[in-house]
Amino acid sequence: MPAREMKHILVTGACGQIGSELTLALRERYGGENVVATGHRTRPSAVLRDSGPFEFIDVTKRETVEAVVDKYNIDTVYHMAAILSAVGEEKPQLAWNVNINGLYNVLEIARERDMVRVFCPSSIAAFGPETPQENTPQETILRPKTMYGVTKVAGELLCDYYFARFGLDVRGVRYPGIISSETLPGGGTTDYAVEIFYEALKHKRYTCFLRDDTVLPMMYMPDCIRATIMLMEADPAGLKHHADFNLAAFSFAPADLVAEIKKHIPEFTCTYEPDFRQAIADSWPHTIDDSTAREEWGWEPEYDLAAMTEDMLEKLRDKVKV
Ligand code: SER
Repeated sequence: MPAREMKHILVTGACGQIGSELTLALRERYGGENVVATGHRTRPSAVLRDSGPFEFIDVTKRETVEAVVDKYNIDTVYHMAAILSAVGEEKPQLAWNVNINGLYNVLEIARERDMVRVFCPSSIAAFGPETPQENTPQETILRPKTMYGVTKVAGELLCDYYFARFGLDVRGVRYPGIISSETLPGGGTTDYAVEIFYEALKHKRYTCFLRDDTVLPMMYMPDCIRATIMLMEADPAGLKHHADFNLAAFSFAPADLVAEIKKHIPEFTCTYEPDFRQAIADSWPHTIDDSTAREEWGWEPEYDLAAMTEDMLEKLRDKVKV
């Protein structure tokens, strides 16, 4: 049976760090009018608003999602709306409600309408302190200690259940920390790796909320977008996994990033004042084995630490006007 075509796409969380750039990339690929961006409260940027349809929804209120799905005859959802790790520790009930009930609503709506495909991201936060931290395998211990991680593991399992039980083609990756120059991340533990660039350019100094030696897996946004679209367009026949692919590009500690930035801005200095996010970071892996993604759908990253740093500084120089 030939794979069904993705024609009318909905993106939840389209004003977020990944959603905002993903929406534009999808519009480029599938046509602006075929990709409906949705957000909760954040107002869309001018380019997001002007390049295709935009609607407000609340993923925890099923009828608000259903109305948009039916209005635009949606057959594919990129479900990017979520509460991240740091905010999730401050508001665990909210994180459960948005990440679990929101996902359940999306999956049920997709199942009832026999949709073509759904994307739901997981995260390195699905791992925990008992997981091997180096070269973390695809199949491993998933015992996270954050509410965000709990919702991500449950989400992976729920998505795989919908595939096995209802034949709904749900796909997802365990994103590492994502570094981007367009939209700021909102409330994650890896956010320092974006903030540091703005501060380095504006003030030549930064106070990092993680210890200097905290190694975490990271990825530059162009690779993140490419991976997401690659997986969604991959031949279903080649996929043995569905919603839980390990995904990696490079890993570094704050001290490594500082050294890399100093190659471009020698006066830059960084001090370290670890807060509650240190414990979250300490429970996550250092490096990820993503050979399953490489084998099943041909994943290969393009950016390393040096290339990412150079590109970030170039992009942000114009933006912060220094
Ligand atoms: N970047 C995310 C966070 O820090 C991880 O998925 O919460």
